[in-house]
Amino acid sequence: MRKKTAAVSFIGLGYVGLCTATVFAAKGLKTVGIDIDKDKVNQIAAGKPPFHEPGLARLLKTTLRQRRLHVTNDTTEVEKTDITFLTVGTPSKPDGSIDLTYITNAARDLGSALRNKDKYHLVVVKSTVIPGTTTSTVKPVLERESGKTIGPDLGMCTNPEFLKEGTAIQDTFSPDKIVIGSNDPKSANRLKLLYQRFHRGKLPPTILTTPETAEMIKYASNAFLATKVSYINTIANICQTLPGVNVETVAHAIGLDPRIGPLFLKAGPGYGGSCFHKDLQALINYSNNNGYEPALFRATEEVNEEQASRVVALSEKLLGQLDHRRIAVLGLSFKKDTDDIREAASVRVIDRLRKKGAHVVAYDPAAVPNAKKLLANSIEFAEDPYSALKGADCCIVMTEWDEFRKLKAKDYQTQMRLPNIVDARRLYDPEDFKDMNFLAVGLGS
Ligand code: UGA
Repeated sequence: MRKKTAAVSFIGLGYVGLCTATVFAAKGLKTVGIDIDKDKVNQIAAGKPPFHEPGLARLLKTTLRQRRLHVTNDTTEVEKTDITFLTVGTPSKPDGSIDLTYITNAARDLGSALRNKDKYHLVVVKSTVIPGTTTSTVKPVLERESGKTIGPDLGMCTNPEFLKEGTAIQDTFSPDKIVIGSNDPKSANRLKLLYQRFHRGKLPPTILTTPETAEMIKYASNAFLATKVSYINTIANICQTLPGVNVETVAHAIGLDPRIGPLFLKAGPGYGGSCFHKDLQALINYSNNNGYEPALFRATEEVNEEQASRVVALSEKLLGQLDHRRIAVLGLSFKKDTDDIREAASVRVIDRLRKKGAHVVAYDPAAVPNAKKLLANSIEFAEDPYSALKGADCCIVMTEWDEFRKLKAKDYQTQMRLPNIVDARRLYDPEDFKDMNFLAVGLGS
C-alpha cells in the first residue's frame, strides 16, 4: 500500500462489480476487472457495458483508454493487485435460499491464484451473502486453496454494497456509508485506508464491525426498503377505496415526520429488481432455518405479489372483461433508467393480463431486448409509445421513465381507440386527464 497507486481487482463483472471497478479506476486506482464470461469481457474491453446504466459507458471508455482499468477472464491476474473484491452473483435456489456456488468457485480460484504470492493480499466479500457466509464458507475455501491463514499474509473483510441501479455511478462515488466487517484489525485497517484514498481523506460514515453484522446490515437495509414500499402500497390500496383521497398527499404529509422520512414512499405496482425479492426470500429462509418465522417480511412479499393484481383490477374497472382487449403497457424495466426486467412488476402484470385473454402491446425505451428474451412472442413490442397506444382500449403506465412523464392527455387520446388510462406509477396530475377515464394506484374514486 505504500505504492503510489493501490491496485485493486474485482471478480465478477455484473452490476456491482463493473460499476464499482469503473469508478475505482476513475478515482485513479489501478483496477483489474475479472469475469469468467469471455464474451462479456470482450464486450467490456471494447468499451460497451453489457447493461444500461447512466454514465457507465462514458466512464468505461475513459478508464480503459487511460489504462487504469484492465479487464480479463484470467483470475491469476489478481496476483498483481493488493486487494480483491468478490462481486459475483448470489442467486436464489428454488426454495428461496441463497445459492453460494459462484462465491465458492470465485473464492476457490482466487485462493489458488494467491498460493504463490509472497506479499500481503486482502480479500473483500462485496457480494450479498447471508450472515455467517464470509466466515464459514468463503474463509475455509480461501485458506485451503491459498495454503495461507487469515492474519499476517492474507486479509479478509465483508463490505456490502448499497448502490442502486440507475444511479450506480453516482452512488459509488458518494455512498451514504461504508460498512466494513472483519475479525482481523489489519484487514479492516487496510480496507479503511483504501477508502480513505478513494474519498481523499473525507470518509463517509464508516461502520467497523464483525463480518456477520456487516452481512446482516445489507439484508436489514433491503428488507426495510422493501417493507416501506409494501407499506405505502397498502396505504395506497386503502386510499383507493376512499373517494377524494390521494395517497400522494398522505405520503407527503407523513414523510415530513423525520421519524418516517420522505423517500421510498411512492406508491406503485410493487417493487422489482434483482435484489429485494431475492434478499427477502433468503432472509426468510435463513430465519426459518434458525427457528424464527419473520411474518413481517412474508407479508411484505405477499403485498408486493398482490399489487400486480391490483393494477390489473384497475384496468378491469375501466374496461370490464379484458378478453380480446388491446392493452398498451408503457414501461417494462423494474424502474426508470435501466434495461433490467428481473422481477419487474411489468412482467407480473403482463402475465395476469394474458391469463385474462388480453392482447398486450408494450414499449420501453431500454428494456425491449431483455423483455423479448423473456416474453418472446407472447406479446407485441412497439417501437415508440405512440405505436404502442395506437388502437389500444386501455393503457397501463408501468415504469416512471421521463419519456412517459412528458406525454400529455392528447397524446393518449389521439392514438387510443378508447380513452382509458391506468397510471400505476403516479406520473400524472389527474386534473390534466379529466377528459379521459383515468385511474391511478392510490387515488380514491
Ligand atoms: C436496491 C437498494 O435500494 C440498494 O440500496 C441495494 O444496493 C440494491 O437494491 C441491491 O441490493 O443491490 P435497486 O434494486 O437498484 O436497489 O432499486 P431501488 O431504487 O431500491 O428500487 C427497487 C424497487 O422498488 C423498484 O421497482 C422501484 O420502482 C420500487 N420503489 C422504490 C417503489 O415502488 N416506490 C418507492 O418509493 C421506491
